[in-house]
Amino acid sequence: MKQLEFKKRRKHLMQQIGSGNIAIIASADTRIRNRDVHYPFRQDSDFYYLTGFNEPDALAVFIPERKQGEYILFCREFDPQKALWEGAHAGLEGATKKYEADDAFPIDDLDDILPGMLENKGKVFYPMGRNSDLDHNLLIWLNEIRNQTRRGVVAPNELVSLEHILHEMRLFKTEAELKLMRKAANVSADAHIKAMQRVKAGAYEYQIEADIVHTLMQEGLRNVAYPSIVAGGKNACTLHYTENKDKLKAGDLILIDAGGECDHYAADITRTFPVSGKFSEPQALLYQLVLNAQLAAIEQIQPGLAWNMAHDAAVQIITKGLVELGLLKGRVAKLIKDEKYKPFFMHRIGHWLGMDVHDVGSYKINNEWRILEPGMVLTVEPGLYIPVDYKGIDPKWCGIGIRIEDDILVTAAGHEILSQKAPKSIADIERLMQAH
Ligand code: GLY
Ligand code: MN
Ligand code: MN
Repeated sequence: MKQLEFKKRRKHLMQQIGSGNIAIIASADTRIRNRDVHYPFRQDSDFYYLTGFNEPDALAVFIPERKQGEYILFCREFDPQKALWEGAHAGLEGATKKYEADDAFPIDDLDDILPGMLENKGKVFYPMGRNSDLDHNLLIWLNEIRNQTRRGVVAPNELVSLEHILHEMRLFKTEAELKLMRKAANVSADAHIKAMQRVKAGAYEYQIEADIVHTLMQEGLRNVAYPSIVAGGKNACTLHYTENKDKLKAGDLILIDAGGECDHYAADITRTFPVSGKFSEPQALLYQLVLNAQLAAIEQIQPGLAWNMAHDAAVQIITKGLVELGLLKGRVAKLIKDEKYKPFFMHRIGHWLGMDVHDVGSYKINNEWRILEPGMVLTVEPGLYIPVDYKGIDPKWCGIGIRIEDDILVTAAGHEILSQKAPKSIADIERLMQAH
């Protein structure tokens, strides 16, 4: 992503903070996996959104109308020895030249420099409760300033949540962001297609996970956006099954929920298909029901409609379908009111999608479900999960888990399905699988 995009975001943020105030945000930390081995570093999404700076041990400060510069980056100093062992890092010069900070200081000097920046400010915009070291230090610095009021220094008198501003910005995606999200969705769809082509009875779930990762990486997405779910048969009834350790059986379905990350933007796609390439009759009936619910829900993704309408549309179709198939008994309206569909469809229809798979942005405003607007991206992912030992229904349904998940952009004219490329009709899936 171009520096100009980050610059525009900072400008927008600066306007919202207002002069006389200050905002502070820290990078993510590295995390130890075991002894001296670290987990792969993933930058904090909020920090990256504003800076494009992909290193740990950094902190960004925004001070609208500060004469010496409004955007200050604290980061690691360039260390040739460190560069030799661990590779390039920006250093103070890179922070100003490459990342266009107005001013850069060593992160080790934070304690000496930041308190001075807080003096005489009104509000401190800050993501509270996310970094306990920084929470602690901030309170110490504020107390130090309060202790100096006799020399005429004024201490900030308000701590304000930075997320409130930032997450509203992140909810609306720009063209530059959508370009990355389209790529993430396209490549992830390719990974699902390859998995459909390669799956076979006797393979292990983790081998299909390997196929997914292989496609993502081959097409340039180094990281998954979340741990892949590859669930054969009844494992699909465990919503967050990520062990991916069992052998796939002929006659079972396989549910794959997997998506890659493209320059910090996620795809989140689920497809469910038969291990041996052909749906059995009960599988096809339940699958078609989930698909009908998903298509009806996607129709509700339009500007001007409320966030919950897609969920309600899916619940309506699923409940009616469960009655027709004999899994529920009673009047549809009453069953919906009593939430009798919940043992089989227990989660919401979806979530915002962006830099984080469960992305930021509020779902309600003044206690009302939010109205959809162009630029929002969300998932639509109804499912049916029939527990293995569910009593009072024909056992042919038991142990079947199905979810179909797509990534949808709200546009001025309606919507765009970013993950369109991954087949989902029974006919398309069977045709693709039988051609291999
Ligand atoms: N993959 C997580 C979700 O679908 O929400
Ligand atoms: Mn999802
Ligand atoms: Mn998912």
